[in-house]
Amino acid sequence: MDGRDLILKLKEEKRAIVLAHNYQPPEIQDIADLTGDSLELSRQAASTTAQVIVFCGVAFMAETAAILNPDKRVILPRPDAGCPMADMITAEDMVGIKRQYPGTPIITYVNSTAAVKAESTVCCTSANSIRVVESFCKEDSVYMAPDQNLAKYTARHTQKQVYYWHGYCPIHHELRAEQVRQRKAEHPDALFLAHPECRPEVLDLADHVQSTSGMLRYVTESPHKSFIIGTEKGILYPMRRQNPEKRFYPASDRLVCADMKKTSLHDVINSLQTLEPRITVPEAIRIRALGAVEKMLAVR
Ligand code: 13P
Ligand code: SF4
Repeated sequence: MDGRDLILKLKEEKRAIVLAHNYQPPEIQDIADLTGDSLELSRQAASTTAQVIVFCGVAFMAETAAILNPDKRVILPRPDAGCPMADMITAEDMVGIKRQYPGTPIITYVNSTAAVKAESTVCCTSANSIRVVESFCKEDSVYMAPDQNLAKYTARHTQKQVYYWHGYCPIHHELRAEQVRQRKAEHPDALFLAHPECRPEVLDLADHVQSTSGMLRYVTESPHKSFIIGTEKGILYPMRRQNPEKRFYPASDRLVCADMKKTSLHDVINSLQTLEPRITVPEAIRIRALGAVEKMLAVR
């Protein structure tokens, strides 16, 4: 039996669902029951009837699934797959922010630990940050953490004052406007799509700014034939698979998230056989983090 058949058999036996982020390696995306961006995967984690959720992504994603499903077994095949941005702010930092900005809603990107979510008013993702900020009808200002670039992008689309923490994604933050200009010169007919985690001066060059799944939908629906993609290279796989007649160019060859690339088929098989490594969140933190995640999911 090859690896894929074994995974199918184990999924059925264990009543498990495999969720994979759009940045996961192709062979992982191929065996997943659902691939998507952080918001889609959170929604799926909230609604699944499966007993076991194998989350192929990074720790904060599996933690979010565990926050939403305390009675299910949430497995992260590679427990060492983290998100450097999520580690740029602590729960203590959040308490300090609340002291400094009393009464200001704290909107926390899901790329954060459960303990940080627990200190937040509400969570957001790259797909809904503007809607989440706008959901605070009575407030004139909000605080966004930990991604400064998502905060600056969101600030451009709201009248509210947006204060922010100075975290960033090392992969997206490293992409420079000069590299994008060079790619555009190499492919003058291509549209440039960028993720909101990119620097403002990079977003200034973009034809569209979207979450990973937003970009995938955009290129699939567009009559345009070529695109420069300003996010992690993993998204190029579903883009090319769904659009074999179109051309996709990474904005830089360095757009690779090493943590997202850790998961192998062997890790997934091992996880399904042993139902380990399990991700759990201490109940006192989970309950408070759940409030922030549920408030986000309620924003349409
Ligand atoms: P998306 O929610 O847009 O998929 O982004 C997740 C992420 O980690 C981007 O670096
Ligand atoms: Fe975190 Fe950046 Fe990797 Fe996304 S691409 S998981 S934000 S380090």
